[in-house]
This record gives sequence, structure tokens and C-alpha cells, in this order.
Amino acid sequence: MKRASHKRKRSTNPTACPCVYKYLSCAPSFQHTAAIYASIMARTPMIALHLLVALCILSSVRTSSSAPSDVDGFIGCLSAAIPPSLIHTPATNSYSSLLLASVRNLRYVLPGTTRPLLIVAVTEPAHVQATVVCGRRHSVRIRTRSGGHDYEGLSYASVDPDQHFAVLDLGELRAISIDASRSEAWVGSGATLGELYYAAAAANQTFGFPAGNCPTVGVGGHLSGGGFGALSRKYGLSADQVIDAVVVDAEGRLLNRSTMGKDLFWAIRGGGGESFGVVLSWKVRLVAVPETVTVFSIRRLRNESAVDLITKWQAISPALPRDLYLRVLVQNQQANFIALFLGRCGGLVDTMRARFPELGMTEQDCQEMSWVKSTVFFFYNTADRPAEVLLDRRNANYYLKVKSDHVAEPIPGEALESIWTKWLEKPEAALIMLDPYGGRMRSIPPSATPFPHRDYLYQFQFFSFWFENGTAALERRLSWVRGVYEDLTPYVSKNPRAVYVNYRDLDIGTNELEGNVTSYAKARVWGEKYFKGNFKRLAAVKSMVDPDDFFRNEQSIPPLPAAKR
Ligand code: FDA
Repeated sequence: MKRASHKRKRSTNPTACPCVYKYLSCAPSFQHTAAIYASIMARTPMIALHLLVALCILSSVRTSSSAPSDVDGFIGCLSAAIPPSLIHTPATNSYSSLLLASVRNLRYVLPGTTRPLLIVAVTEPAHVQATVVCGRRHSVRIRTRSGGHDYEGLSYASVDPDQHFAVLDLGELRAISIDASRSEAWVGSGATLGELYYAAAAANQTFGFPAGNCPTVGVGGHLSGGGFGALSRKYGLSADQVIDAVVVDAEGRLLNRSTMGKDLFWAIRGGGGESFGVVLSWKVRLVAVPETVTVFSIRRLRNESAVDLITKWQAISPALPRDLYLRVLVQNQQANFIALFLGRCGGLVDTMRARFPELGMTEQDCQEMSWVKSTVFFFYNTADRPAEVLLDRRNANYYLKVKSDHVAEPIPGEALESIWTKWLEKPEAALIMLDPYGGRMRSIPPSATPFPHRDYLYQFQFFSFWFENGTAALERRLSWVRGVYEDLTPYVSKNPRAVYVNYRDLDIGTNELEGNVTSYAKARVWGEKYFKGNFKRLAAVKSMVDPDDFFRNEQSIPPLPAAKR
């Protein structure tokens, strides 16, 4: 009997999300174990968490043992092409540690989530080709995981019990080779951004790469969705610097830029991960950074006119020279203005005095360092750690929910003031990140890559992370993020609400099937929020390269129906 994957409408009810307490009450046969677990939890929460995940996995072993034979057929097919030591089923000891290794969001490892049937930890391209071919032959879908940072866990989990999939773990495909004479690099999808930054700077202190501020994010998912960071005002998104790629398509073929064609090459540079194939590696242009850059971090409390400063920042920051990136993080009732300047302190002070004197920045705020150390500073808020921390692939474990938006016109000061009063004084308030666009971001046409949001002043992120287990904490955090998002409606992007695909948000809609492929009409609801007018072109590419919709998840691009082409 074959196990097909049918998509049901997904519940957005927060209580449908996994949590420890739901688990403790949901499985009568585990009541005794649950009592033991609860007592460990009270004393050593982290050990208890790992124990819990192991218990959940044991429960899925039971389910899998009665799994229909196509899973067995899949394993048999894989075993003929891939060393069995790379195939991790729930029956193997390695499964749970491998599953947890790059998980960022604890909402998607606890009970209630559908875990992978198995994990294939590939070490060479042929293993990826075999996994795709075997998956198609035996009706087992694949979720590709590079760094595992998907905000909604789509690379390793699902909240839909009807999804059955194997995870293709690219963590070992992380070679980075730099051609310093051409300022180019080939980088494996399994590399992290930190590893790429470190390797670029090791080759030459004046090489940089525009990408995100979190060093453990995976190159594979990040470049697939765009990739925004501190160098984006100067050099655009990561995807804007991609010059070639190696992809395994739905037929299991290995393609490069010239053999994949311009449409697929366009789609993989920002159309979001998973939909078009598995990108094994990327050839990127390294960008020029000075040997010394300058950073600062200036905190202002609400009674030190934080709201006035943010109000001014909205118009000032996107219009600053491209060498200057000035973001704001709001947390614990204070605004932290954080800058990267591609130059020395003197130039930064002059620019800040001329363009944003109200912030009161002086020479004392400057910290000069190499660009690679600035990437450490941006993540750890200190440059005291050595650049080698960028090579640490381990993640912190927390629960996470993020919503994001874009702003076209500065939000009036009174509106910001009332949002602060209503939302930011609550203990469950999220970390709010405001990231300016402008500069190179704005000078690239919105259809040049799938990322269409080039003209906005800045992007908003409500990044809610927490460590407490339980439904109450979960509901409190989710309602905070959703509530503030709702209240901002009059002031932010409209028709559609503009969301960046790398800030994955399943609240904006999920796929449904029409026949055996994803419905284009339903997918437009979320798809146009991520891609605006580019969504239709992405769907057209999908119908060319994966008409059977093999590469599919809750927000994968659907094939464009023939009638719409
Ligand atoms: P993961 O492996 O989870 O993949 C994400 C999606 O892409 C999944 O659907 C997956 O199946 C698919 N995929 C992964 N590898 C693929 C491949 N090789 N081929 C095809 N599909 C593939 N973003 C940003 O722009 N700027 C930033 O500063 C940050 N900062 C940040 C901090 C933190 C703490 C987190 C958790 C996330 C961010 N992000 C971000 C968002 C990040 O860019 C986004 O989640 C990426 O998709 C993560 O890529 P990973 O490979 O780590 O994720």
C-alpha cells in the first residue's frame, strides 16, 4: 500500500501547536513516563527537553513500524545508492541528535508535529540525486535542510499529520572554495553564513559578502529566499551576488546555470527554498570591504526620546550613504541604534553629525575593526569574541514566532508612541528589528529577482522567542505578535501586505491540493504577499521544472495551471 501525502487545511489555532503539557496529557500509555518526565523537568529542564524529544521519537518509531511498504521500498532504493550509515531512521540512535542538530524552533520538535520518516545525511551530490529519484519512485516527499533556521520549521517538521517526508540533510555539503583572483567563491548549501564570512576574510581581509546577521543560518535556505543583512544597502541581497549554482531537479538531474536555463536560475535566487529542486552549491561574487570598518551601538530609553529618534530614523536611514547601515532593535523598553560603516570613525562621525545629529553620536561610540569582526559584533553585540566563533554551528534552543512587514511612509510619531504604550510594556513583548532599505536595494528592479520589496523604506520584524514550556506561554507570545501586527495595519504595506519569504509566516496562508498538485488559486493568498507580481512567474517556472509538484510543502510554489499560462 502506498502512503500518499494529502494536504488538509491547516489549523491556525495556537493550541494546535506542540507543547510539553499537551504531550503529557495526550498519550495515556505514556502517563507513567510523563510523571517521571515532569519531575525531571522541574529540576533540569534542558535534559528533560532532550528526553522528551527522544520519547516523542520512540512514539513515532511505533507508527513507522507499521508504515506501508513504499517507505521500505524507499529505504531499499536508497540503500542501493547510499551507504546505510547515512540513512537515519527513528530506530537508529543517531536520528534524534541529527534531527535536533540544526533545529532553531522548539515549537516544531515537540509532540503534535510530524517528524521525518528518516533523515538522509548526504555527503556527495550523487546521494541527493538518488534520494530524489527514490523519493519519486516510492512516493516519499523530501524536505531539504541546510541550516534548519526556517522560522516555521518547514525543513524538518510539519504540523500537518498527513505529511510524510524524508529530510535531506545537506549539513555535510559545506565546502567553500575561494578564487581570490576573481573575487568569487563556490559555497556548499550546508555551509553557514558564519563559515562563509570567515572563509572570505581568511582569503582576503577586503572580501565580504552581503547576507544575514545570524552566523548559524544556512547558505542553502538563505540564498534561496534572498538574504538581507548589514551590507545590503551597499550590495543588495545575497541572491543579487549569485552568479551560478548547481541544482538537482525533480528528475534527479544535476544542472548548472547554463543547463538549467534562465527561468530556473531566476527562480532559485529568491523564490524561497524547496519548490524548484535541491540547490547543492552556489557560486557567488565576493564584495569589497575596507580593511577597517566602524560599528557603534547606542541605546536610548523611552524617556531619552527613543520614540522621537525612531520617528526620525524612518526617513533618515534609507537615505543615508550606501556605506552606512543603521538598524534599530527595540527590546526591554529601549531602542538600540546599531551601525556598520564601511570606513573609519572620522567619516562616520561626520556623516552622523550631518544626517542624524539628534542621536548624539560621538568618537567615543566608535569601534573600529575588520569587517569579519563586525559580523561577530552584529550577532553577539560585542566584538570581544574571536572571529572563530563564526565557525560554531551550534544553535540555541528556544520557541520562536516571527511576523514581519514593510513600511513605505514613515509612521507618525503619535502612532509609534501609542503602539509602545499598548504593546512594548508587556512582559511578553518581542524583540523588534527595524532594518533600512534604500541604496542598492532600491536601485535593483523588483522583477530582477523574485524578491519584489525593493522600494520600501524599511522592514519590520517582530521576533518573539521564549524558553518557557507550556500552552500558556505559547498563547501569550503568539497573541502578542499577532496583536501588534494587526494594530500596525493602517501604517504598513497594503494590498498585499508585503512579507519577506525568508521570514516565513504560516499565518499568511498555506497550500491546499487541487487534484494531486498544489492549488495556484489558494497559494496566491500567501504567494503574492511574498512575491507580488513575481508570484505568477515563479508558478510558471514551477510548471516547467516540476509539473508533478514533487517538491512540495505548506508554502511551496504551485505549478501554474495551463489555463493561466
Ligand atoms: P532551512 O534549512 O530551514 O531551510 C529553509 C527553507 O529552504 C526550507 O523550506 C528548506 O526546505 C529550503 N531549503 C534549504 N536548503 C535548501 C537547498 N539547498 N535547496 C533548496 N531548498 C532548500 N534572514 C535574513 O535575510 N537576514 C537575517 O539577518 C536573518 N537572520 C536570522 C536569524 C535567525 C536566528 C533565524 C532563525 C533566521 C534568520 N533569517 C535571516 C532567516 C533565514 O534567512 C531563513 O530562515 C533561511 O531560509 C534559513 O536558511 P537555512 O538553510 O538555515 O534554513
